Amino acid sequence: MKVCVVGTGYVGLTTGVSLAFLGHEVTCVDLDQAKVDMLAAGRCPIYEPGMEDLLAEAAPNLTFTTSYADAVPGADVVFVAVQTPSAADGSPDLRYLRSAAESVAQALDHDFTVVVNKSTVPIGSGNWVDAILRDSFQQRENGSEGTGRNDTEFAVASNPEFLREGNAIADTLYPDRIVIGSDNPRSLEVLNRLYRPIINQTFTPPTFLPRPEDANAVPLVSTDLASAELIKYAANAFLALKISYANEIGQLAAKVGADITEVARGMGLDQRIGSRFLQPGVGWGGSCFGKDTKALIATAAEYNLEMPIVKAARDVNQRQRAIAVERLQDELRILKGRKIGLLGLAFKPNTDDLRDAPALDIANSLIARGARVKLHDPVATERFRIEQPELAPYLSQTIDEVFADCDAVVLVTEWGQYLELDWSKFIGLMRTPIILDGRHVLDAERMRRIGYKYIAVAG
Ligand code: UDX
Repeated sequence: MKVCVVGTGYVGLTTGVSLAFLGHEVTCVDLDQAKVDMLAAGRCPIYEPGMEDLLAEAAPNLTFTTSYADAVPGADVVFVAVQTPSAADGSPDLRYLRSAAESVAQALDHDFTVVVNKSTVPIGSGNWVDAILRDSFQQRENGSEGTGRNDTEFAVASNPEFLREGNAIADTLYPDRIVIGSDNPRSLEVLNRLYRPIINQTFTPPTFLPRPEDANAVPLVSTDLASAELIKYAANAFLALKISYANEIGQLAAKVGADITEVARGMGLDQRIGSRFLQPGVGWGGSCFGKDTKALIATAAEYNLEMPIVKAARDVNQRQRAIAVERLQDELRILKGRKIGLLGLAFKPNTDDLRDAPALDIANSLIARGARVKLHDPVATERFRIEQPELAPYLSQTIDEVFADCDAVVLVTEWGQYLELDWSKFIGLMRTPIILDGRHVLDAERMRRIGYKYIAVAG
């Protein structure tokens, strides 16, 4: 099928490259010429394991352009995956979505095109995009640019994306489910056809990412527009509150002398609960959970509805960051003048994404209390320098530099290379060998044997 993808951010690029890999003819549009040039040369502007390999395998079916007129005409499906940053009041800023929809409408030229919202957009945005498309299309037909074609038809659908950064390709090719929503039955048929190779798992896996042994046919949830839009928010908020629940129980575990890691393991083995997303620590960050929980609360407020559970999940998450600083204060008593090292800046391992990263709040709060911080990340430092210029002077090039003369080190992001560190090598460098495990991933007994004072955010 012929596919156009508008926006080559995380979601758009993964969608475009994956669909091209599956054999569809894909054109990706992005207004950023430098990005388009880079992608056309086979280089990936984002840090995502495997993306450049997939780009190479998909290249014969993939084109990048800055022109809607090169990409939209003739497309069976147009995915809109543009950024929706938070506006000043916390609601998503839909200006890019609006201008993308207008540009798509100007270029539509096919007997039936499905315009798909792929970005996470507030519930009701499908209707909103539909109205923009119709207005722009009508204007075009009334004005001089009209093609005069009266067989051009389109419909709006929602196809939420559930990929995790760092796992984007596997999550796209071997997903738990695919959700499509539209009030137009023909759109659902088109999207069903588009995704058939994934649904039936009939494609040949990429050489670098074999099909997992337990991969089965992928369930398709084919539903109405509003339900598809709500599924995305409901799922992300549920994952967020699952983590916050583990963190809330973790605080109680610390008080009563229980081990939260054991408690989470014991809970998660109940299949109704499930073991994933019960990992306690400094809490969630990233581009989705914070923004989506906030947007869900804002949408509910438009209907005079409170979302007390979602609100509580947000509060608990923020509290975890504060507790990390309190735990250090409990140990060191005075934070002023102390040197504290943070290992891991990205909001989670295997990404250089720093959005809403717990490390930022923790570093700022320590600095505000007069501590001297040293910051380290294996991958995110380039981005950190650009996005966090006021914190950039605190960056350390090496792990030795972080430990040298340090009063405490906090493991904030559980990068593999930190887990594999020979911790015994660094203890001699520290002034006081305190380790705060912000993710509950280090072996407490082993750390204590080496001679560290091991503490965790809970427990
Ligand atoms: C998330 C959703 O998982 C994905 O489905 C959605 O499309 C986008 O948002 P992502 O933000 O990339 O994906 O990361 P994810 O792996 O879900 O982790 C989110 C945050 O939760 C990270 O900061 C992670 O460290 C934290 N986390 C995760 C925990 O604190 N504990 C856990 O048990 C799991």
